[in-house]
Amino acid sequence: MTGAPDGYRLYRDLAEWWPLISPPQEYAAEAAYLATVLSSADIPVREVLDLGSGGGHVAVHLKRRLTLTLVDLSQEMLSVSGRLNPDCAHVQGDMRTIRLGRMFDAVVVHDSVDYITRSTDLRQVIETAFAHCRPGGIAVFVPDYIADTFEPVTGRGGSSDTTGKKASFRERTWDPDPADDWIQSEYEFVLRAADGTVQVVQETHRLGAFSRATWVGLLAAAGFDPETGSGIDGTAGWQAAADGTASSQTGADGTASSQAGADGTAGDRADPAMPRNLFIGRRSAPG
Ligand SMILES: C[S@@+](CC[C@H](N)C(=O)[O-])C[C@H]1O[C@@H](n2cnc3c(N)ncnc32)[C@H](O)[C@@H]1O
Repeated sequence: MTGAPDGYRLYRDLAEWWPLISPPQEYAAEAAYLATVLSSADIPVREVLDLGSGGGHVAVHLKRRLTLTLVDLSQEMLSVSGRLNPDCAHVQGDMRTIRLGRMFDAVVVHDSVDYITRSTDLRQVIETAFAHCRPGGIAVFVPDYIADTFEPVTGRGGSSDTTGKKASFRERTWDPDPADDWIQSEYEFVLRAADGTVQVVQETHRLGAFSRATWVGLLAAAGFDPETGSGIDGTAGWQAAADGTASSQTGADGTASSQAGADGTAGDRADPAMPRNLFIGRRSAPG
């Protein structure tokens, strides 16, 4: 199936499987890196808006030090996240259009931005981030794919729990037409319930792959000072050191460890790992 993200079964009737399909631990290292980037803002970062928060698997690692508001299109995914992150505010909404009527120190748009496939929509997402970002604050965007570096890829993953539930998946991602701004991921999920019944679900997702120039141009047009993880021109850029301190700017709270949560999901102390793609928008402080 290709279409609107709110039509994908993965985030609707299969949402309950998300913690096994893409376990929270797998987000620990990137979340640690993002925490370091956030701490490089010109203002202390405490209140964070997570747009497209999904199952809350990034949030679960960030929330020890930060107060998070989580927004997602899917009520089912918000329910999954609500169980993992009962201490976070959850709001149903579209990252393109939502207006909460308040500002945050930082805005995070992790891999959910993959579901934005038109530059007019990406412009809206970035404008949403700007509208919610305090002067001196920072917005970070983590698309899985950008056009400049896209290569077809295959992968697999999944996990099981103690009740006998098991989810596994295979994916193949390729570009049907390099002239446009989206690529395609074909998934096959094998989902085994605790009673042994198995369902196999195939689903095709359309995902955005914009050029670096498009990202940088839209960030600047919205009013942000743009930066990229690998530099505007792809050569050098913002780097966080492996010990969690920023090498170009060190925030007061520059460490990014995720410590044991009651649910055990965020218990590992992860070394920060830079995401494949990272775009940063800094909102200038007045004066
Ligand atoms: C890959 S999941 C995100 C996983 C997330 N990073 C986590 O920590 O669990 C993608 C999510 O993006 C959400 N999404 C897609 N388009 C959206 C939109 N326009 N506005 C808000 N959420 C959106 C989907 O509902 C889904 O929950």
